[in-house]
Amino acid sequence: MLLNRVETALMNNPLRAAIQRHFEAPRLLRMGGRLDGGAALEIGCGRGVGAELVLERFGADTVDAFDLDPRMVAQARQRLAARAPRARFWVGDATSIAAPDEHYDAVFDFGIVHHIPHWRSALREVRRVLKPGGRFYAEEVLAAFIRHPLTRRLLEHPLEDRFDRPAFRDALAQAGLEPLDDAELWGGFAWFVAERPEA
Ligand SMILES: C[S@@+](CC[C@H](N)C(=O)[O-])C[C@H]1O[C@@H](n2cnc3c(N)ncnc32)[C@H](O)[C@@H]1O
Repeated sequence: MLLNRVETALMNNPLRAAIQRHFEAPRLLRMGGRLDGGAALEIGCGRGVGAELVLERFGADTVDAFDLDPRMVAQARQRLAARAPRARFWVGDATSIAAPDEHYDAVFDFGIVHHIPHWRSALREVRRVLKPGGRFYAEEVLAAFIRHPLTRRLLEHPLEDRFDRPAFRDALAQAGLEPLDDAELWGGFAWFVAERPEA
């Protein structure tokens, strides 16, 4: 689901970038560690701040990234133009990822899975494109935040079958990803690291 105007403004500003840079990425890094030379994918890349961090902070050699919204992809491409060909962007859907099986060392999700109506399909796709031993790093928004009256007034999310922290952890396991660590903030936000087990 595409962002409405309010959420687009909330995502595309220096404060959001600072939160991602100084809070979310360091937290995921502490939980899941660096890649050091690996190939990474970011689903729902927005304007490309996450992809930048995947190269700079997580030490990926390359990052592929896509978003459902062509305007976001255009911004991300422009933001990382100097990093091409280490950073590649396309318009795509996380429930049908345009990448081969077992291709990436890591997949990153900065707050996108909760925007997907059939989000469990996206987790299965993440597992499919990860190499055995590869890691999924996710920062997510939980049902309590999505269903809060103020959020519902301002933002637009799918409302059916949303998840809390245990439900997301269970869904990771059902998709074939072994949960390694998770953390929660204020009952509304959570971080997860999971691994595709070696064959
Ligand atoms: C809350 S924004 C987060 C953007 C960026 N990751 C960030 O942290 O700033 C969610 C993003 O997911 C994208 N999105 C929603 N559904 C998607 C899907 N099925 N596949 C890929 N991207 C999707 C939206 O277009 C939007 O850019």
